[in-house]
Amino acid sequence: MKSETINRPSSAQAIIDVIYRRRAVRSYTDQPVARNIVEEIIDAGRMAPSAINKQPWKFYVLMDKATIKSFSKEIAHVALKDFAQSGIKKITQTTNHLLHFMHDFNFGALSDPIFHGAPVVIFITAPRDNEWAPLDIGMCSQNMMLAAKAFGLDSCPVGFGKFVQHTKIFSRLNVPPSEEVQISIILGYGDEKPELHTRKNDNIIFID
Ligand SMILES: Cc1cc2nc3c(=O)[nH]c(=O)nc-3n(C[C@H](O)[C@H](O)[C@H](O)COP(=O)(O)O)c2cc1C
Repeated sequence: MKSETINRPSSAQAIIDVIYRRRAVRSYTDQPVARNIVEEIIDAGRMAPSAINKQPWKFYVLMDKATIKSFSKEIAHVALKDFAQSGIKKITQTTNHLLHFMHDFNFGALSDPIFHGAPVVIFITAPRDNEWAPLDIGMCSQNMMLAAKAFGLDSCPVGFGKFVQHTKIFSRLNVPPSEEVQISIILGYGDEKPELHTRKNDNIIFID
């Protein structure tokens, strides 16, 4: 709980509103997203802080529906195979993974089970030898999703995008072997308004 309510200047309020209104959206309209908006969103990502200012991110952008669907199907295929194989090895851990997976897996949209019918998919990569890359890419991704919300778009981080590296069509992205896909971000005009997941609030420890 906040100890007191603070007065927020309107510019701060606008940013806070965007932070609070962003949701993981898993259903999109057919409205295409203009390329210059995608570029603006990526520019916001580039403004993220990065360890030793390495700016490790690279962005591989898909904006063609048919291409997105084919990547989605290939990734779903690889992801399911991976989960099935690990099930033989570690049954408990796999059950947890599967439960989580089924929550995120969009059975309702079998033509695009991974990217939820979004018109834009951005794979973000970083050099494999950068130990801070996952943190940097996380910050970059959040900047992008907040910028998207500010432009009236919705988004979802899609961790399953990482599996693209094991698909047979990965070469179409032309990602060099020195880079690793860290995450994918989907963008589009949302066709649902998901409920807010209540946030845990017992996790602040002030040290006197
Ligand atoms: C690293 C990461 C990976 C995620 N991967 C997926 C995914 O593969 N598919 C999906 O539908 N949602 C994915 N999500 C979205 C989360 O499920 C979502 O952010 C979470 O349920 C909280 O909901 P909210 O973002 O609306 O607050 C991912 C989120 C993060 C941060």
